[in-house]
Amino acid sequence: MSRRRPAERLRELSRTVAAALTGSSLAGQRWLVVDDEPSSLAPALEAAGAAARNWWRWAFGGLAASPWPPPGKWHGIALRLPRDRSVLDMQLHLLAPHLEPGGRLVAWGANDEGARSAAGVLATFFEQVRPVASRAHGRVIEAAEPRPMPHPGPGAPWLRRARIEVPLGGETSPAQLDFVSYPGVFAGGELDEGTALLCSHLSELHLDGAVLDFACGAGMIAAAIRHCCPEARITGLEIDALALEAAGLNVPGAELLLSDGWQAIDAERRFDQIVSNPPVHRGRQEDHSILLDLLRRARRHLRGRGKLTVVVQGRLGALVERTLPHARRLATTSRYQLWQG
Ligand SMILES: C[S@@+](CC[C@H](N)C(=O)[O-])C[C@H]1O[C@@H](n2cnc3c(N)ncnc32)[C@H](O)[C@@H]1O
Repeated sequence: MSRRRPAERLRELSRTVAAALTGSSLAGQRWLVVDDEPSSLAPALEAAGAAARNWWRWAFGGLAASPWPPPGKWHGIALRLPRDRSVLDMQLHLLAPHLEPGGRLVAWGANDEGARSAAGVLATFFEQVRPVASRAHGRVIEAAEPRPMPHPGPGAPWLRRARIEVPLGGETSPAQLDFVSYPGVFAGGELDEGTALLCSHLSELHLDGAVLDFACGAGMIAAAIRHCCPEARITGLEIDALALEAAGLNVPGAELLLSDGWQAIDAERRFDQIVSNPPVHRGRQEDHSILLDLLRRARRHLRGRGKLTVVVQGRLGALVERTLPHARRLATTSRYQLWQG
């Protein structure tokens, strides 16, 4: 078992992939590199003579993310395996038909993120699947000759639709929301328990000005605000381009910003209220930096009497209290706490 930190292991795995890909000349080949967060593969492919293009779904550090793959045909596709099987399924449907005849897809990822079972999934899409490299912590798998099968294109075929009852609190009746989501988006199109706790206090928050939903996902909180407070001018920010695509359908007309934390919000921008069910992961690792950044910087993006309302897991309540000493706890359930500061 490797003792190195996940980010270092990932970089090492990425170097293994680069070595496996560039063993022979790639002169004149076009490659698509998918969700390579260390962003080291495209330069390695270009050094071996290929033209490489990145496609990221998540805008980490301001990466130019987009919900769907760019159009085009590729001699090779380097795919960082997603943890979620339904995302892998969608990606293979979207990518396999865009391989040039004789082209190959090289999938790679960490064992503890599902790379062990990926070969079986790849075999349902490709005639040829073979391991290229295997390390203690990850593997690289090559697939070629896509099997003939229907390939729904991007967009609507992947939408998950559900009617969801969202509590709004006080005397207000619950909202019945026709809500859509895409594979791999937070909560899978269902109502998360933390989100429900925040929504069940919306009617008490007097949301009638400019409201920011920080880390809005597919827009469940924003859609509930639209329902209970139609005068609110809603802005949602989110790092996942596909979640934001769903938010566009769930909260039409809202301002939606692809953003890693506060990145897309101008320093001068002010809101009357900020609400959030914030992330406590950075990519696949537990990480509280975005939550802390939300708590510390919310003040400078709020107008005079503005408030930040944030829901966190109970174990993080102490962190909220330490960071915002004047915050008060509005509600507690067995797993979540709702704070206002
Ligand atoms: C706990 S979920 C809440 C989603 C939505 N507000 C809801 O309640 O359904 C947190 C969201 O934060 C997003 N996220 C993760 N890291 C982020 C970052 N650095 N900047 C902005 N959003 C981020 C995730 O993609 C996810 O959609």
